[in-house]
Amino acid sequence: MTGARVSAAVPIAGRRFVVIGGASLVGSTTADLLLARGAGEVVLFDNFSFGSREAIRHLADDPRVRVFQGDVMRLPDLLAALEAADGVLHLAAMMTISMDRDPWSGLDVNIRGAQNVIEACLVRGVRKLVFASSNAVYGYGPGVAGDLVEDTPFHSAGAPPAAVLYGASKIIGEQLCRQAHRKHGLDYVVLRYSTVYGERQHYRAANALYIVETHDRIKAGLRPRVIGDGAETKHFVYVGDLARANAMAFEAAATDVAVNVSGPEPITTLALVELVCELTGTTLRPEHVEPEAGKVRLTSGGAFRIDHAAAERAIGWRPEVSMREGLRRLLAWRDQGAATVQAAE
Ligand SMILES: NC(=O)c1ccc[n+]([C@@H]2O[C@H](COP(=O)([O-])OP(=O)(O)OC[C@H]3O[C@@H](n4cnc5c(N)ncnc54)[C@H](O)[C@@H]3O)[C@@H](O)[C@H]2O)c1
Repeated sequence: MTGARVSAAVPIAGRRFVVIGGASLVGSTTADLLLARGAGEVVLFDNFSFGSREAIRHLADDPRVRVFQGDVMRLPDLLAALEAADGVLHLAAMMTISMDRDPWSGLDVNIRGAQNVIEACLVRGVRKLVFASSNAVYGYGPGVAGDLVEDTPFHSAGAPPAAVLYGASKIIGEQLCRQAHRKHGLDYVVLRYSTVYGERQHYRAANALYIVETHDRIKAGLRPRVIGDGAETKHFVYVGDLARANAMAFEAAATDVAVNVSGPEPITTLALVELVCELTGTTLRPEHVEPEAGKVRLTSGGAFRIDHAAAERAIGWRPEVSMREGLRRLLAWRDQGAATVQAAE
């Protein structure tokens, strides 16, 4: 955690927020929470490259919600959307799987897009920017082990190139925020999300695929698959907990900080797949398979845990939803007709 300076609280009630990349998993859930806490207006800014109208359809009747179709690569779009904004949550990005498909678009969106958001915040006098970073800033591969705290270094050896590019692009995004704070006084909080899961789950996050693909296979009557022995660690965070972290980052006095936002405990891939099996009540048992050629999966050698104590110190946040409860909610949502959201993506 870098040194915090008091000043930057943005209360939610009555204020105007812009959620950039708002038409998806994290954005739609955070919008729900901001509205529940009395936000005056929530603008959902998205180019709909990955997100969908379906993911935000439940918000359509709220007169405080406005959808702005725009692209972070176009500064005029951002300048228009950010007019009179009090707080901006920047989510628009390309994650590892998308980065693998199209690295230069990923780097453009994650780096130039972030700088455009920062510049628009400065021009429009936005009071606080919350920037969605990732535990990818610690890298993947055998070097990642033990407690990951905010000054744990970036490990790239042994990780897929797309994961290294993604993590590096988030490191650059964080540093662009710091630079804007130093040069121009922009107040910001960086939240390093661990793998997100929950209602409106998509197929874009490599680690969360273990949940949705396991569930899909069980529903199709097929044995779920675990790549290798499944002993490697994953650390997830429930999307409702994450939405609270985003809101609390606005409300807190903290600025110029970067903190981890992770769930209560890590889990191994095998234990995760077995938990999904248990919650669905299937008698199908996981089968262990070799990695498919050309498919990006994130593995790490050592057992690790992403420490979230600094988030509690900086913004008063700690996770509340266990993996079992969060998974139960996600599976219930999928069983109730999630197919429409997924089809739209
Ligand atoms: N989902 C995870 O497991 C996870 C983990 C760690 C960090 N994060 C970070 O959290 C953020 C949000 O995650 P998510 O799962 O909701 O992501 P997502 O990919 O579902 O959503 C990103 C949204 O940004 C939009 N977008 C992409 N490029 C854009 C552009 N050029 N202009 C405007 N909008 C654009 C997409 O259409 C999408 O709606 C991302 O920054 C991601 O890197 C996510």
